[in-house]
Amino acid sequence: MAKIQAVRGMNDILPGEAQAWLAFEAKVEAWLARYGYQNIRMPLVEHTQLFRRAIGEATDIVEKEMYAWRDELNGEDLTLRPEGTASCVRAAIEHSLLHDGPKRLWYGGPMFRHERPQKGRYRQFHQYGAEALGYPGPDVDAELIVMCAALWRELGLEGLRLELNNIGAPQERARYRADLVRFLEKNRERLDDDARRRMQTNPLRTLDSKNPSVQEVLSGAPTMAAYLGDESLGHFEGLKRLLDAAGVGYTLNARLVRGLDYYNLTVFEWVSDRLGAQGTVCGGGRYDGLFELLGGRPTPAAGFAMGNERLLALVAAASEGEAVQALDAYVIHQGSGTLEYALPLAEALRSRGYRVVLHAGGGNFKAQMKKADASGAALALIVGEDEVRGGEVTLKPLREAREQLRVRKQALVPEFEQAMKKG
Ligand code: HAM
Repeated sequence: MAKIQAVRGMNDILPGEAQAWLAFEAKVEAWLARYGYQNIRMPLVEHTQLFRRAIGEATDIVEKEMYAWRDELNGEDLTLRPEGTASCVRAAIEHSLLHDGPKRLWYGGPMFRHERPQKGRYRQFHQYGAEALGYPGPDVDAELIVMCAALWRELGLEGLRLELNNIGAPQERARYRADLVRFLEKNRERLDDDARRRMQTNPLRTLDSKNPSVQEVLSGAPTMAAYLGDESLGHFEGLKRLLDAAGVGYTLNARLVRGLDYYNLTVFEWVSDRLGAQGTVCGGGRYDGLFELLGGRPTPAAGFAMGNERLLALVAAASEGEAVQALDAYVIHQGSGTLEYALPLAEALRSRGYRVVLHAGGGNFKAQMKKADASGAALALIVGEDEVRGGEVTLKPLREAREQLRVRKQALVPEFEQAMKKG
């Protein structure tokens, strides 16, 4: 029969890699807890309308990247989540999570976007996201950025650049947008098709065009900064002061607009030069209008999400050659009654926290011994009919030239602990 393969852009994370994922997840979750963020878990499927409203009709995500379908059984339009912020805010409104004050929340898990797969860009990918709900900032804007810098340090990542921009309040952006469109209209014949289309649907997105000739046209375009009022400027000044105080460097990028429409004031991205075209490992900003847009009370908020695949690619490069976690013991058993005898012994060691594999699949002593050697375990536990008769078990060090020893079954745990210490 023909083999069935995984869906393009949706990857298996195989055991060899999954060790690094587990270590990464443990670090990230401990770090989030250190900043007082609480875990929230939202469904992978939401009403399509949630993302249309939150992310914006004229964004790449909503226009062409959502896995959306009609559930004929219930007559509902549903979508596999392309990101977590919309769901997080939906849940906060639905369960009145902010009734007793602001909340710092985090989530993690798979997100789905029907993009063209390439290195660092997948159709199922994983994010950790942090959302500070109910805080007007700029103190939490700074906190979100400073905590990222701390995580990069902890992961041993160097050379991540912080790009920062202030996209102002909606009214300021509307005035800017109108002038930008006028400018683009005037230069219409020098734009490419994509920019001409964007000019109609989402003119600010023309700013991050990758086409050098479009970028050249844009070098003469009006910039957002000239449209910002005192309040927006004050917020940004406050943020920059706190970043300076924390010693976090940044690059101001007036072209940084992000691919989701819910942002205002602060937007930022962390970018690596070591990942090729998909260098953004983390992005976020302030989204003070999103609660209202989703039917909630006006609530200021800010957050970010990071791409685990991209960060793990950097972590792997930073820590090449680190050993994977090995087994402590491999239990060999052969002969009548030996499995029944060995099984509770393996359980006893596991209950003490040791990593133990009980041999499965038969085979003689020699074949099992080979498996034990290949397993990477520190010790082999040997149970033959002889051991069963004597109420004993044999401990054989596998990684160094020490004598094997035979111990009483009742003394297995302390003897094993002893042997592990010596190893
Ligand atoms: P985003 O910029 O769309 O923002 O995604 C955040 C991060 O997810 C990106 O910087 C990237 O590392 C990773 N990412 C996105 N798409 C892919 C993909 N196709 N393959 C691999 N990695 C990917 C958001 O999702 C916002 N919800 C962030 C946010 C939270 N803003 C406020 N709060």
